[in-house]
Amino acid sequence: MKDERFRVATAADILAGRSGPEVEVHGWVSRKHTVGGLVFAIVRDGTGYVQISARKGVGGAYETARSATKESAVVVRGAVRDDRRAPGGKEVSAAEFEVVSLAESWPITKTAAKSASYLFDKRHLSIRGPKAIASMRIRTEVIGAAFDYFRQNGFTLISGPTFVQAAVEGGSTLFPVDYFGRAAYLSQSAQFYEEAALPALQKVWIYQPAFRAEKSKTNKHLTEFWMIESEQAFADQSVNLQTMEGLLAMMVKRVLENREQDLKVLGRTLKEVSLPLERITYDRALEIAEKAGHPFAWGDDIGAEAERTISKTFDAPFFVTDYPLSARAFYHMTYPDRPKVTMSADLMAPEGIGELATGGQRIHEQSQLMERIASQDLPAEAFSWYLDLRKFGMPPHVGFGIGVERTTRWIAGLKHIRSASLFPRTVSRISP
Ligand code: 4AD
Ligand code: MG
Repeated sequence: MKDERFRVATAADILAGRSGPEVEVHGWVSRKHTVGGLVFAIVRDGTGYVQISARKGVGGAYETARSATKESAVVVRGAVRDDRRAPGGKEVSAAEFEVVSLAESWPITKTAAKSASYLFDKRHLSIRGPKAIASMRIRTEVIGAAFDYFRQNGFTLISGPTFVQAAVEGGSTLFPVDYFGRAAYLSQSAQFYEEAALPALQKVWIYQPAFRAEKSKTNKHLTEFWMIESEQAFADQSVNLQTMEGLLAMMVKRVLENREQDLKVLGRTLKEVSLPLERITYDRALEIAEKAGHPFAWGDDIGAEAERTISKTFDAPFFVTDYPLSARAFYHMTYPDRPKVTMSADLMAPEGIGELATGGQRIHEQSQLMERIASQDLPAEAFSWYLDLRKFGMPPHVGFGIGVERTTRWIAGLKHIRSASLFPRTVSRISP
């Protein structure tokens, strides 16, 4: 029979003194040791860790606590006590210790944990580790900040399809799927669907997975990732940059306010972002890379080494603006007096990390867009509905997309983007 004295409480509440004096803890045994007639178990419950002590002779608590293996699911009932030696200064002295699901011998030993690839092979288990937990909690803060930011600024959250028929960001990274015998692809970006929603809603945003058949093995590419994208009508690129930097600043602020402990677990020192961010042009970025010995030709994409070098010269996020058309997707608008330069920008993180987001002014005029599609030899049929939008009231508009894992990686100070994903998908990994 359940003892009504005990109130269910979280580790976070117990350590913060917000629980009652007698608690019921639901969690998993993270560590355990026995000294004399006492078992000390550190129990993890998703909000934190709390020490449980079970003394010999108190009901059967000591015996069951002794039998509880690492990662067993347990329910513990007992009294909260102050104890200077316990992590967080409190412990629960167990009156009852119940093993709800006994774990087999935990395969992630200290030695095994040294291999990153083993940890990712066992990701379904290794996500219980403190760094994985901290990363996920920072990620949730990053996403939550976007929900609040866009709501506060009058953007409507929409959704888009995952099965699509056209490339947004170039054909080379499309994932084909057999759609009942017809060719279809997994969406690279929801941008075109956002543009379609503009005449209905004026300011929209979206949060959904994006797929890229990226063959490169790098620490910043996933094949499946989450993107936050926004699009707004009757707006120009300066408004777009303000929206981007405002969003990033809010993400950082929220993490600093709410995830201090998780940053500490990851050994990350993070500074608040002060606005406006510095803006440099692509031409200036080229000069910086050249001076540092990583030159590239005007018109090319900024390569990985050059991007790292440029990023390292900054100690706060910044924008690189005015990319050449040859380095951008077809829908970008160019300056009236500079037909080879687009009104677009990448939001870059410092510390060698580089691109977090790309945004720009879209071509809103139908004939211009048709010319662009023709000049790049793109299949006009695939873009028929996208072109159609330009026939029915399409004003100047801008938008951007920011990668959730890239941003989490930077904010949390993670070495590899896969650590910002619970179950990462890369060129070499599709399991677990
Ligand atoms: O720069 P990208 O390719 O831009 C677009 O897709 C635009 N259509 C977005 C828009 O304007 N609505 O992708 C946007 C962001 C990148 O800056 C990066 O953060 C992330 O998505 N991203 C990736 N993240 C992880 N792995 C990959 N392979 C990524 N490719 C892009
Ligand atoms: Mg980009």
